[in-house]
Amino acid sequence: MITARFSPSLDWRDFIAFAQGLFARENLVEKFETAFAEYVGRKHAIAVPSARAGLHFLLRTCGPTGGKAIIPAWTYYAVPAVSRLSGFMPRFVDVRPETLLMDEEQLAAIDDPEVKVIIPTHLYGRVQDMDAVMKVAKDKGWIVIEDVAQGLGAKWNGKMCGAFGDAAYFTFGPTKNFTTLGGAMIVTDDDAWAERLRAMIAPTKSASKFHAIKAALFGLALSLAAMQPLFGMFVYPLLRWGKPRGFDLIEKATSDPPHDYPLPPPEFYKNNINNAQAAVGLRQLKKVDGLNDARAVNGRRMLALLDGAEKADLPSLREGESPIFMSFPMQIIDPDGLAKELIKHGVDTTRGYMSYGPGLEFLQPGSRDTRNAFAPRRPRSHQAAGAGAGRVPANPTDAGVAHTPNPNITTVQFVSRTAHVAAPAEPVIAPVGATISGEVTEAARLAASPDVQPDSPAEDIVPDYPHARHADRRVLHLPVHPGVRPSQVGRIAKVVLAALRRY
Ligand SMILES: Cc1ncc(COP(=O)(O)O)c(C=O)c1O
Repeated sequence: MITARFSPSLDWRDFIAFAQGLFARENLVEKFETAFAEYVGRKHAIAVPSARAGLHFLLRTCGPTGGKAIIPAWTYYAVPAVSRLSGFMPRFVDVRPETLLMDEEQLAAIDDPEVKVIIPTHLYGRVQDMDAVMKVAKDKGWIVIEDVAQGLGAKWNGKMCGAFGDAAYFTFGPTKNFTTLGGAMIVTDDDAWAERLRAMIAPTKSASKFHAIKAALFGLALSLAAMQPLFGMFVYPLLRWGKPRGFDLIEKATSDPPHDYPLPPPEFYKNNINNAQAAVGLRQLKKVDGLNDARAVNGRRMLALLDGAEKADLPSLREGESPIFMSFPMQIIDPDGLAKELIKHGVDTTRGYMSYGPGLEFLQPGSRDTRNAFAPRRPRSHQAAGAGAGRVPANPTDAGVAHTPNPNITTVQFVSRTAHVAAPAEPVIAPVGATISGEVTEAARLAASPDVQPDSPAEDIVPDYPHARHADRRVLHLPVHPGVRPSQVGRIAKVVLAALRRY
């Protein structure tokens, strides 16, 4: 039996809803917003073109006009990118090796008055300890914006992710557990903030019917490609041939622009959810719990079957956590090698699309916003004047949003290697995983070493984020999506265990 790495949460009824929505007269977007807010347990839900646009709108209206935002050092590249360009320099925090989520224990040690915002991120449908995060954030006066792009339906102590922070954002791309074929949502309970958000988002236009139909056709193509027997007949042979040679067809079809982009192309800021997409969203709300349950059962079963696997660090669940297992990340020494081995035996895997935040090119000293998608083709006079050393601040004119140039966003020094030297040292955390512990300990020792000579090379004294950096090299995702039948989980686990033994 051959298993695809994902299965879009779309069935024929979603496409019927989409077609009906194209011709509906009532405002389905408002209806979807209301139903979504109720599902998450928030007062306001506001549709936005993408999560990164949502984060931008949230940061621009949250109160402070600049400062720093705490972001996990292992996350989706658009989060630090948008944060920086919205006026909040990333202040990274390492992840815990066993959860790959921001280490909650490190938060209390952060004593930096410039920090205004924290973005706890429920990566892989795993759950950040929101009780711990909220407690520290409250003490420190940080605004909490939850990133639930991968966790709709996951819970902490029975409460929905996205219902803890001052605000939260979600995204509904075609490979997520919940999809409207593009588009995203932001939520908050704060009436005044919601009003500011609506005012800022008002000029953003709904996607045209043509755009939505293109997105629906892409969703349909992905659904067919992932479906058996089509996957086995047409896609698998290409993956079987291409993957060992470094060519991954699915990655090519679904991937983002290169991650050195400070910001993604403008379509992420245009094309808000339209009526047809909202109709799909309303239908998805009815089935999301069932699909999430199937993921969670598969994920837990995979954990149990791989328990004790040698040469692999598995995700570990925490008390209070109800994950949805958007994916099953496993850390191993040679993920590409294992992926090549597994595809031979019919198991399609992915390295995922997360990045080591501090290593992103656009955060390095001297990097320029030459590919800033927001920057107008010809710099306008007010921007040129406000840009300091020749840098043009972000200006999302494409979304029709008024934007005042912010001097905070014209510097990248905070994350530069040399600037790190003066930054407060990260507390060293005890490594957990057996496989990664050696290197992690060494990296942490170097990072925290009190006897570093001032004239040693910068590389030696940079406080590192060792667990996030290791994740960058080692994570491989096994398929546990609802398209995988429980009996298949057993087969995949067997193939993985056998492949690991051969290493
Ligand atoms: C964790 C995380 N945050 C933010 C985003 C950004 O979402 P969007 O592509 O809608 O901007 C993603 C996208 O998948 C994500 O995985």
